Amino acid sequence: MKTIHLVAGARPNFMKIAPLYHALTKEPWCRCMIVHTGQHYDAQMSDAFFADLGLPTPDIDLNVGSGTHAEQTAAVMTAYEKVCMAAPPDLVIVVGDVNSTLACTLAAKKLCLPVAHLEAGLRSGDRTMPEEINRIVTDSIADYLWTPSPDGDENLLREGVGASRIRRVGNIMIDSLEMLRPRIEARRMADELKLVRSGYAVVTLHRPVNVDSEANLKTIVASLKNLAGDLPLVFPAHPRTRANLRKFGLLDGLASHSGLRLLEPLGYIDFMSLVFNARLIVTDSGGIQEETTYLGIPCLTLREATERPITVTQGTNRLVKLDALEKTARAVLTQPAGAARSRPDLWDGKTASRIVAALREIFPN
Ligand code: UD1
Repeated sequence: MKTIHLVAGARPNFMKIAPLYHALTKEPWCRCMIVHTGQHYDAQMSDAFFADLGLPTPDIDLNVGSGTHAEQTAAVMTAYEKVCMAAPPDLVIVVGDVNSTLACTLAAKKLCLPVAHLEAGLRSGDRTMPEEINRIVTDSIADYLWTPSPDGDENLLREGVGASRIRRVGNIMIDSLEMLRPRIEARRMADELKLVRSGYAVVTLHRPVNVDSEANLKTIVASLKNLAGDLPLVFPAHPRTRANLRKFGLLDGLASHSGLRLLEPLGYIDFMSLVFNARLIVTDSGGIQEETTYLGIPCLTLREATERPITVTQGTNRLVKLDALEKTARAVLTQPAGAARSRPDLWDGKTASRIVAALREIFPN
């Protein structure tokens, strides 16, 4: 019986471990343990996702909480090293690009434990993003690199990674979306919020570059207020974003704007229900760029670069500078809704089963 640790720390990790957890619990040859680092700990940032995704209480909870990058990374490393020393797993699977991904990879590799990185190879080329550092370091030391798209393979090969370590498995988030599609479609968030289907936009923001800078957040808020005059906006705000809106004196004006609904963070099913029926998404998230591409919904990403270029070349995503948000959004609204979609190869809801096949090769007996 092989023991596999499935590591998750922050909100975007939970939908990446869920399909794999459900697939691995059906395999008689392994015991899959969920390790939650505690990077995200609010009920709406964590527990709500475990409930929606059918995940059990984590087997191991490191409970590290917030901190500076070094504090958080160090706290996860210290706590996870103890876990691995007490009972070393046969394989550690990390996902995505958050501080917990990097920290658990470092702790495990220093103990010579094998590590697989799911969602490997993505690169924005922007080393001012903490996630880019996490991706580069994780991929440079992990043993098995499972990529979602051809650009991931190419980036890794260019960085000198041997081809035998790379395997394209597809986009695991689409597995979660398809797994929960019936419940997402049955959920009627738009109706509940009295929004017309295909008649509103969803906004999410949390990147430090957008929300920690007073000038940038002011620019974005001004554009959102103008846009909300023409198209209702729903904005489930990340705790860090809400705190900064308050700090910069922007919260009250936004919360009281008639066209804009400022909400607490939403669980996966509630949020995806809103996305499914939206006319447009404005975001700086990584995962939402992929989900909108898959669903064929226009997405405006408030970032200079993306580690998911396939969402631009093949999908519905556009990178938008902050001062061009309003103009670009209005241009999108003049185009007919429901544009032809092109789904990237292997974004098909079957990524978890391809990973199980890869694991059978790693552990043939
Ligand atoms: C982290 C990830 C980011 C991911 C995002 C999704 C890193 C470097 N960043 O960013 O890649 O896109 O998660 O949300 O790992 N906070 C709470 N409650 C929580 C969690 C956070 O109030 O449950 C607040 C705290 O004030 C904290 C701040 O949000 O200091 C930032 O949290 P943190 O996990 O450091 O980074 P995120 O911005 O969430």
